[in-house]
This record gives sequence, C-alpha cells and structure tokens, in this order.
Amino acid sequence: MRRNEFIKTCCITCFSGSLFATLLQSCESLNYFALSAISNNQIIVKKTEFIKTDKSKTVQRKYILVKIEKFNFPIYVNRISEGNFSAILMECSHNSCELNPHGDYLICPCHGSEFTNLGVVQNPPANKNLRSFKTTSDNENIYIQL
Ligand code: FES
Repeated sequence: MRRNEFIKTCCITCFSGSLFATLLQSCESLNYFALSAISNNQIIVKKTEFIKTDKSKTVQRKYILVKIEKFNFPIYVNRISEGNFSAILMECSHNSCELNPHGDYLICPCHGSEFTNLGVVQNPPANKNLRSFKTTSDNENIYIQL
C-alpha cells in the first residue's frame, strides 16, 4: 500500500470510528435502562428513574427500559400520564426480533411491523399484539406484575 493510500485509509477509519461512537452515545441516552428489583413476582422500579437531569434542567423521560434475567428481551415501561404506566415485552409477535422504540411506536427491524406504545399491532406482518404486563404504582414506585 502506498503512503497516500495508507494515510487516507487511516483517516477514514478514525472518522468512521468517532462517528460510530457518537451514534452509540446518542442511542444510549435515548434508551435508558432503569435500575429495578424483583419481589413477590413483580418488578419494582422507582418513579425517579423517569427523571433525567440534563445541563441543570430536569426533564421526564417518556419511557424507560427494564431488563431482567427471566426474559431475553427488555421491558418497555411507558409513562402514559401521572401515576399511569404500561409495561410491554419488546419481543416482536411475528418472529421474535427485538423491537426498537421510535417516537410513540415500537418498530421491528426484521420485517417492519409497528406497534403502538401500548403494544397494539399497527402494521403487518405481525398480526398479534405484544405481551403486556399489569402495572400499578404508588407515590414512590411502579410495580410490574410478572
Ligand atoms: Fe418482527 Fe417479523 S420479526 S416483523
């Protein structure tokens, strides 16, 4: 390889690497995995997990993700309104791919099915709603029944 080609290849590799790292960081900040505990066959998540402090301002996350050993897929916990939450397993009902949150929808990267943030199927090829869990809450916590 000639010197010019080598330098050009190194620059492209460095630029691609830094771009990829930036993209990963932005994905990480969008998909926040919350801390949780399991007790009496329910997942317990503190409501404060929805609060995000960013440059001295506080904002509410629309959703958080919870991962437990029992499932191969995260659980999408959506804040519908104050004290009202939904919890949905992020496993596509078509062929078990992991869904991606996108705005108010969950999108399947495998074949393009779409679901609402309540797990209701909107676009095929999936024809079944997503698995959802009953949720309750009190002043401090959200309880997801398993
Ligand atoms: Fe999700 Fe096919 S696995 S649409």
